[in-house]
Amino acid sequence: MKYDVKDLSLSKKGRLRIEWADDNMPVLNLIRARFAKEKPLTGTKVACCLHVTTETAVLMLTLKAGGADIALCASNPLSTQDDVAASLAKDYGIPVFAIKGENHKTYYGHIEAVLGYRPDLTMDDGADLVSVIHKKKGRIPLGGTEETTTGVIRLRAMEKENKLLYPIVAVNDAQTKYLFDNRYGTGQSTIDGIIRATNKLVAGTNFVICGYGWCGRGAAMRAKGLGANVIIVEVDPFKALEAVMDGFLVMPVARAAKVGDIFVTVTGDIHVLRPEHFRIMKDKAIICNSGHFNVEIDIPGLVKLSRKRRLTRDFVEEFVLADGRRIYLLGDGRLINLAAAEGHPAQVMDMSFANQALSAEFMKKNYRRLEKKVYKVPVDIDRRIAELKLVSMGIKIDRLTPEQKKYLASWEMGT
Ligand code: NAI
Repeated sequence: MKYDVKDLSLSKKGRLRIEWADDNMPVLNLIRARFAKEKPLTGTKVACCLHVTTETAVLMLTLKAGGADIALCASNPLSTQDDVAASLAKDYGIPVFAIKGENHKTYYGHIEAVLGYRPDLTMDDGADLVSVIHKKKGRIPLGGTEETTTGVIRLRAMEKENKLLYPIVAVNDAQTKYLFDNRYGTGQSTIDGIIRATNKLVAGTNFVICGYGWCGRGAAMRAKGLGANVIIVEVDPFKALEAVMDGFLVMPVARAAKVGDIFVTVTGDIHVLRPEHFRIMKDKAIICNSGHFNVEIDIPGLVKLSRKRRLTRDFVEEFVLADGRRIYLLGDGRLINLAAAEGHPAQVMDMSFANQALSAEFMKKNYRRLEKKVYKVPVDIDRRIAELKLVSMGIKIDRLTPEQKKYLASWEMGT
């Protein structure tokens, strides 16, 4: 078996951590038990381009239990957990091509390595794998799934231009995904990444969050809980209004740049923080990103403005501007929650990856009738995952009575 990981001797630690995640993913466990019996993915070759974390490892074991042949590479150069990659290769016999900190060439070399397995199905996070396949006009017989907002945006753009070569299920758009993973997962782990990297006290800081989408609102909620003065930057009037009424200060980035102590971009957009903002930031401002790609902060622009740069702590780079002010960039501007922390907790990835596993099964069963489009996760799958998650938490909810059902479906009855 081929693989490319940092160090196989890290596998023991990785295995223990995978077991820890597994213990916190009850829904995926149920799916794995069923997959082991029914083998719905027998003979299906799945190319996975995902953050190589403990939770992803549990998803890989689930697909394997279902009969799939898997190959895995990283969906970001800085998000791989090397101990997990080692354990997947050594303990579970899964071809893994991922090393934390890999350069651009190795990153794409690893995508090519996974494509060498001639996959039937792709499982992507950010659409880099799909994009490579499309540039080469490759053939994927069944279809694919996509994990994140940025990937779904890219795929919808391909669909619009009639460039999409095979059907994709947008896992990100399931309610059991974005309402929990993007909001509570990114919310908690982004703050976790900033704290692990800097060990700074969040209380009393002016904490600027650019983007009040699902991820941004999660981060805002958690930063507020730690005592920060949260400032939101938005371009969408609805989101901006929500932020105002959720009790946050909302202002343009040019104003926020002057007062912020810590900045997080989480928009999926490009150059949200750029030289005109770095020029007016306070000394020792901390800037980081939790959006999918490292383009939200104009790093080349920051480099140009700086006369000196050095790494001061792991994942903390100091840039000294001409007038001596310092700006600290975290995690090379890559997703800070995965670069400096461990990504989302298993409890939320349980639902995201339940969607992945069931969407792969759906694709295998239904590919013949699907067109070259981006599809939503079927509502019954999404709902079932929510129900199973509640059961696993020991929480019961009510059911509509027949009278209530009738009432809610009728229009005649008023006051
Ligand atoms: P979303 O679409 O819900 O929110 C993005 C928000 O950013 C929108 O409200 C939009 O109006 C705003 N925005 C766009 N351009 C802006 C600009 N120039 N200035 C200020 N605001 C701007 O998207 P979601 O789900 O919150 O995802 C955001 C990013 O985070 C995506 O790149 C996504 O792939 C990524 N993501 C990262 C995760 C992580 O683990 N760090 C997990 C899930 C998603």
